[in-house]
Amino acid sequence: MVSSTFLFVLLSASTIHAALPSKAKSTCSQFKSTLANITILPNDPTYQALATENWSATAWAKPTCIVQPGNVAQTQQIVAALTKNGVPFAMRSGGHMPSPLGANINDGVLIDLVSLNRIDYDAIKNVVTIGAGLRWGQVYSELEKYKVTVVGGRVLDVGVSGLTLGSKRLFSSLLWCLLTWLWALKGGLNNFGLVTSFTLKTYPIYQVWGGVKFYNFTDLPKLLQAANKYQSTPTKDPYANFMMQAFPTNQSIGVVLNMVYLKPEASPPAFAPFYEIPTIADTTKIQTLREMMSGQGVPDIPRWDWRTTSFTPSEDLYKKIGSLVTTSPEVKTIGSLNAGSLALGLQPISTSLVDAGIARGGNALGLDRTNQTWWVLDTGHWLAKDDSVAHEATKSLMAKIDKAIDQEDSNIDYRFMSDASWDQDVLASYGADNVAKLKKVRAKYDPGLVFTYIVPGGFKLR
Ligand SMILES: Cc1cc2nc3c(=O)[nH]c(=O)nc-3n(C[C@H](O)[C@H](O)[C@H](O)COP(=O)(O)OP(=O)(O)OC[C@H]3O[C@@H](n4cnc5c(N)ncnc54)[C@H](O)[C@@H]3O)c2cc1C
Ligand SMILES: *[C@@H]1O[C@H](CO)[C@@H](O)[C@H](O)[C@H]1NC(C)=O
Ligand SMILES: *[C@@H]1O[C@H](CO)[C@@H](O)[C@H](O)[C@H]1NC(C)=O
Ligand SMILES: *[C@@H]1O[C@H](CO)[C@@H](O)[C@H](O)[C@H]1NC(C)=O
Ligand SMILES: *[C@@H]1O[C@H](CO)[C@@H](O)[C@H](O)[C@H]1NC(C)=O
Ligand SMILES: *[C@@H]1O[C@H](CO)[C@@H](O)[C@H](O)[C@H]1NC(C)=O
Repeated sequence: MVSSTFLFVLLSASTIHAALPSKAKSTCSQFKSTLANITILPNDPTYQALATENWSATAWAKPTCIVQPGNVAQTQQIVAALTKNGVPFAMRSGGHMPSPLGANINDGVLIDLVSLNRIDYDAIKNVVTIGAGLRWGQVYSELEKYKVTVVGGRVLDVGVSGLTLGSKRLFSSLLWCLLTWLWALKGGLNNFGLVTSFTLKTYPIYQVWGGVKFYNFTDLPKLLQAANKYQSTPTKDPYANFMMQAFPTNQSIGVVLNMVYLKPEASPPAFAPFYEIPTIADTTKIQTLREMMSGQGVPDIPRWDWRTTSFTPSEDLYKKIGSLVTTSPEVKTIGSLNAGSLALGLQPISTSLVDAGIARGGNALGLDRTNQTWWVLDTGHWLAKDDSVAHEATKSLMAKIDKAIDQEDSNIDYRFMSDASWDQDVLASYGADNVAKLKKVRAKYDPGLVFTYIVPGGFKLR
């Protein structure tokens, strides 16, 4: 990110008081008269679809009303009215965070940013300014016309804001885009204000090699060892990156390896450790980056809970984890739920990537300067009544993994927000110094703590 347009609301602490549902109602009525065509009440025909957007039903709610500001002035007007009246609100970009009430609200107002959707590409400065309500697919499609791209999400439906403000999963280490002067925004999520647009650096990347290789689930141990080899190559090829997923509850899906090489060069040596393992199917080819991303499948399961951890990899640790995720009783528990699915994912982060972030001004994440793996357990299922069973089973399985990590002395404190569960303290994982610094930033830009308390959802800086 080069910069972002940010709505800072400077208010005194006295404006924050307990919100009454009637306050939300009267504020919504006020919006319905002053901002009629962008205010949606529960009786309006589009309300239901908007209240249940989008990805995980765990994030659906019943806001008192939904407002869809179309420009910065309207956004400002709405946020000012809500803070003045002490009405709790939520902000939503692409609605892909599965955390309950992370980007939605009951008895309060949902600000749906979908109409902040401008894309302004500057071919001379090599930057693009994108509205906060866009989804990555819209951004990539527009930029593809100019044969450039930005660092963004892997799945086209994901929103630009949550991903940029959380901590992006980099589909490319070369493009590690970290904040320079907006240090706190990167990883600070919605704790400081509402971002209306982002200005991102563009890169002349168009044709790439990549796609998905599918493997037999029984080859998971070999694939984890291949990942370890890839991660222990002395010179990291900055054009290469991968993400591996496997499905212990649905082993017929096998192991899915998403690979990308940011040049049109087929089967580059960077991925050599994987080439020895036979594939069941293979979609890798030379194509545009957007085409490649549009081939990313997403399972059609309504409720999700994720959980993440981080560690420094080794052959031994991968062996232990590979065994835990196939043999632990928690896997059976999850698999026995209605549509119960457990996916595990790993993403390699190299020291050179961490260093590139530091070289570009740093960020709030407090990443250790070491080779590391960001690991995720994604649990999906069908019914709300199974939420707590799924959550506890995932938590218990992750506790076993964390124990193995400790035994190998391989712990990394950092927790990747995009993959975290609602009860993981992501901001604390950045380290005490970074938290103290974030609090200083907050004291400057939001002394009334509006975005900490009047915006209750998301990972908060308490
Ligand atoms: C299928 C899928 C694929 C994914 N792939 C990737 C990936 O490749 N890389 C990756 O890093 N992550 C990935 N994620 C995780 C994703 O980045 C996070 O879930 C992210 O929060 C989603 O962004 P969003 O804008 O859609 O979320 P939302 O649910 O709209 O918002 C998420 C959080 O951001 C806050 N927020 C939203 N807009 C603003 C704003 N304008 N100003 C301030 N705060 C705001 C919200 O209040 C909320 O707390 C994926 C998620 C899914 C479901
Ligand atoms: C809402 O109404 C205003 C004023 O008539 C108009 O300028 C604006 O385009 C409308 N917005 C939408 C989303 O229809
Ligand atoms: C999410 O919402 C967007 C916008 O309404 C829609 O295009 C998309 O198909 C939805 N995705 C899912 C998985 O429901
Ligand atoms: C995966 O490997 C197992 C054990 O070797 C074998 O029985 C099974 O048929 C393989 N599956 C596929 C899809 O090749
Ligand atoms: C990262 O791994 C590579 C390969 O093993 C090694 O050369 C490098 O020194 C490691 N860096 C750190 C900081 O551990
Ligand atoms: C896993 O299998 C269950 C049971 O067959 C099914 O309902 C679920 O959709 C599958 N999950 C995925 C991710 O395909």
